[in-house]
Parts: sequence; structure tokens; C-alpha cells
Amino acid sequence: MTNPGEIKLISGTHSRVLLEAVSKYLGIDLCDHEVTRFRDGEIRVQVKESVRGHDVFVIQSTEPPSDNLLELLLLVDAVKRASAKRITAVVPYFGYARQDRKDQPRVPISAKLIANLIQVAGTSRVLSLDLHADQIQGFFDIPVDNLYATPVFKGYFDNLDANEDLVVAPDVGATKRARAFARRLGNVPIALIDKRRPEPNKAEVVNVVGDVAGKRCLLVDDIIDTGSTIVEAAKALIENGAKEVRVVATHALFSDDCVEKIEKSEIAEVVVTDSVPRVLTLNHDKIKVLSIAPLIGDAIRRIHEELSVSSLFI
Ligand code: R5P
Repeated sequence: MTNPGEIKLISGTHSRVLLEAVSKYLGIDLCDHEVTRFRDGEIRVQVKESVRGHDVFVIQSTEPPSDNLLELLLLVDAVKRASAKRITAVVPYFGYARQDRKDQPRVPISAKLIANLIQVAGTSRVLSLDLHADQIQGFFDIPVDNLYATPVFKGYFDNLDANEDLVVAPDVGATKRARAFARRLGNVPIALIDKRRPEPNKAEVVNVVGDVAGKRCLLVDDIIDTGSTIVEAAKALIENGAKEVRVVATHALFSDDCVEKIEKSEIAEVVVTDSVPRVLTLNHDKIKVLSIAPLIGDAIRRIHEELSVSSLFI
């Protein structure tokens, strides 16, 4: 892109803490903007300085409530109408990603609809983190950079030992992620949990595939929602002789009584990122929160300078 203008950093109210951390990391002042409410509750956004001809990054995770998504769409619309040169929607947690196919009659493909909305609002490109399914990139007809959180976790787990530690996928869908994680953290072997869902939000372990006896297990997942998956998996691993179970996951939704479940479980530690900001209000001995601001900051810098983004995590 010729003359990409300056980087302009904006966010919805929800991702404001991340915005400030990214701005500090990059040494770039925030673009003056506000997100407020009309008396009836409707969202009102305004960008208070010129973004004409500039490279604008709008940061917002889009887990419920849906106002988070709406703030993102309205901000993108505002900068589009203010003649920004390029608009990147930075969506660390991409909500509705788990509804990515028509797996029952008369259900929507929600992830596709959300992708359409983000694109139609005027987004030029998307930057996300650990999308639930890689194919969601194909729901957009604009470039999508899907970062992996591995560099964020790498420093924390740099002492894994291939003889003692085991990376465990908590369900079949997580196998590819677990294998990549294990490779980047010292070629640690992997095991697999055969999970089924008897009903939504409930997880049941059918089988543990692999010899976990005497091992320190690290369960790797993209999302912790109700916590059922990791708690049931940890229980099965301990029953099968594992010495210790820790969990690493990118997006901490922590719905319902998830934190209480973790507290009472066999899990020794849960390491997550701050992609879902709610987690920042938690202060819990078992839960460690790592910041994604440097990773997002580096990606923003690279996008702006037209450099490779994948080199951040390969
Ligand atoms: C499922 O495909 C995801 O990767 C997670 O395992 C799932 O969303 C976790 O949900 P919960 O914490 O409610 O079991």
C-alpha cells in the first residue's frame, strides 16, 4: 500500500484496557474518540480527530453482550465515513465462532453472518487471535490474519520436559492445536481425550487416548466457557494416573460457575490471556492471566509496515 498514513488506534469500551496497553507498547497516542450512550441506551460513537488517509485499527473482542459487536461495527462505520485509508478490525476474541456450520436443520451459520456484518461495515482487513476454526478466515472476502497465542505462553512454559510432560488435547477438535503447541514447546508428546457433549454446555469424557500415568499433563484449548471440558478432562487424567494437570487456553469466557468449578477441580493451574477482558477483574490463586498486548502490538506494526505477520508465531 502506498502512503499508508499514520497508525490510529481506537477501541470499543469493552477492549479499552487492551487498547491502552497496545498504545503504550507501540509508543503511539490513542486516537481521540468516544463511545457513549443516548438516553434510551443506544450506542453513540464519535471519532474526535481526523483519520483521513490514515491506517486505522479498531480493537474490540466480540463475546456477548452483542453491544460489543455493535460498538465495533459503529466505530468501523464512523472511520469509513471519515475517509480512513484502511480499517483493520482487531478482534482478539471472535464471538459466535463456534457456530460455524449448519450441523442441524434450521440453524444459522452465525459465524458467517458476523463476518458479513464486520465486512459490510467497511472493514478492510481483520486481525484475530486463535480463531476457533481456521476456516472462519474464508467467511471473509478480505484478508484475515489469525494470530496464535503460542508466543504469549511460550515464556511461561519454557521448562517443559519431553520425558515428564505431556500436552493433552481435551477433545478431537483440539488435536491440531495441541500438536502445534507441543512442537513449539520442545517436542513434548501428546495425548487425547475422547469427549462427547450429551447436551449443550455439558462435557463427558469417554476415553483417554495415550499413557498419562506419572506424567505432568498440560491441557491445551482455545476457549474455556463453562469449564466443563477442562474440569472433566482433568478428572479423567488424574483417574488415569496423571501426576499433575495444568491448563492453557487463549480465551477465558468463564461463564456461569466456571471459576468455582476450577477452584474445586483437580486442576493445579489455569493459564489464559486477557483477550476476553472480564478475566482482568479476577484475582484467583489458580488462574494466571497473560497479556496479549505485545503480540497484538507487533502484529499491528507489521500490518502497517506491510511485513509478514505469520513470522510472529512460526
Ligand atoms: C470446543 O470445541 C472448544 O474448543 C472448547 O473446548 C469449549 O468451547 C469449552 O467449553 P466449556 O468450557 O463450556 O466446556
